[in-house]
Amino acid sequence: MLEIFTDIPEGLVTVAYIAASILFILALGGLSHPETARRGNLYGIIGMLIALLAATLGVTDNFELLLVALIIGSSIGLWLAKKVQMTQMPELVAILHSLVGLAAVLVGFANSLNPNNYFSGIELTIHDIETYIGILIGAITFSGSVIAFGKLSGLISGNPLILPARHWLNLALLLVVIWYGRIFVLESASGGDALTPLIVMTVLSLLFGIHMVMAIGGADMPVVVSMLNSYSGWAAAATGFMLGNDLLIVTGALVGSSGAILSYIMCRAMNRQFLAVIAGGFGTSSGSSGGSSEDQGDVVPIDPSETSSLLSDAKEVMIIPGYGMAVAQAQHIVYEITKKLRESGINVRFGIHPVAGRMPGHMNVLLAEAKVPYDIVFEMDEITEDFPNVDVSIVIGANDIVNPSAQEEPDSPIAGMPVLEVWKGRVTIVLKRSMATGYAGVQNPLFFKENTKMLFGDAKESLDAVLKNL
Ligand code: TAP
Repeated sequence: MLEIFTDIPEGLVTVAYIAASILFILALGGLSHPETARRGNLYGIIGMLIALLAATLGVTDNFELLLVALIIGSSIGLWLAKKVQMTQMPELVAILHSLVGLAAVLVGFANSLNPNNYFSGIELTIHDIETYIGILIGAITFSGSVIAFGKLSGLISGNPLILPARHWLNLALLLVVIWYGRIFVLESASGGDALTPLIVMTVLSLLFGIHMVMAIGGADMPVVVSMLNSYSGWAAAATGFMLGNDLLIVTGALVGSSGAILSYIMCRAMNRQFLAVIAGGFGTSSGSSGGSSEDQGDVVPIDPSETSSLLSDAKEVMIIPGYGMAVAQAQHIVYEITKKLRESGINVRFGIHPVAGRMPGHMNVLLAEAKVPYDIVFEMDEITEDFPNVDVSIVIGANDIVNPSAQEEPDSPIAGMPVLEVWKGRVTIVLKRSMATGYAGVQNPLFFKENTKMLFGDAKESLDAVLKNL
């Protein structure tokens, strides 16, 4: 009965591939704005479903085996998706990229060892180069993503590992890999031992991936995750070339280029040069710059009832959510407070920093989940000039993104990163549990400013109390 599926006409598969490619492009377009993101996601799901059906039903001889693999893979995927916390998404994304890289390596080896390869002459050379590059990118993506997963989940220290002469080491690795590429192509053409150079290159690429990500510090990890996202796309595109699968080439190129654009946007948001990020050595998880809490004087605590009075007396309120809002899952109560304030005629807006939280769009997703209207949610660039007119800014579990030392201390690990200048407003209330530092590990002089008040405690509990008092 299963045989009927393998007789699907090739034309139908091609049509399905084109439809899936169009849906993926529409999905990317949709995801570029919160209002259309849901629709974009839906396009992506439908596209992926079509692609999966066409690929499984249309081109395989080993349908039963594939079905078993699909059931195992989807079950693990479903289980992971249900289990993972929003705050663990970057780790999940990193480990998923590693699977794309591993798949490219395995497909590359299977392709190279395939006894039914009938290429010859220039075709064989092109095929060999595709295989070699596919395995190279796949191996770097695989080991780099595993290290990124380790760093993000705290299994490996976030401090950059700086080996002496590391740039020379990388250059030497690159030259050796090119040299072995030449040997691989020549050996393959003459029917000699092409496997050895392939294995040597794979081992070197794995080492390069480890070295590349180990050299990158905690503060740059978001860029690295999106860069690995881009690599995983190119690895998939290379696999598409190896297998002669057009859809995989298109999808891989879409992921590769959108990941590269995202990395660029994030570098700009953090005021970092992309090449400097790749070169590594920036940002420590335990960073000591920025001074310690003892150096900077006392902070002024505030309680929920005083916070409510300040809010009720304000005309302009700016809410700055950060990673702590995600940890506390405070977005719903934030919206309740927003509704109440807006009902009494107070203008409430949200200011979103591009790297707030732990993944691109993290805060937008949480606010959308809580049904906060899009028209009061603003990107950093849109509201950055407005702080002098703000009566009360509430910083909910954010730290690095409102740290003035990014502007004031040239040797701070976050120096040059654009930040939300809340201190220019009349009063700032910061919600956090302690004086602990944020992701970049630097102390925040904002907490010690005269017009800053600290509302200590879990953000959700504090805001519950504020709402009761309003
Ligand atoms: P962070 O600087 O990490 O600060 C979060 C703050 O939330 C902490 O200081 C913490 O202080 C507080 N917090 C944690 N749990 C809380 C809770 N239950 N209730 C109240 N407060 C809580 O966050 P941010 O300002 O959003 O900045 C993001 C940082 O992450 C940047 O350095 C960015 O480069 C990095 N990063 C971003 C991404 C992307 S793409 N968005 C990805 C990876 C890394 P207490 O412990 O004292 O409560």
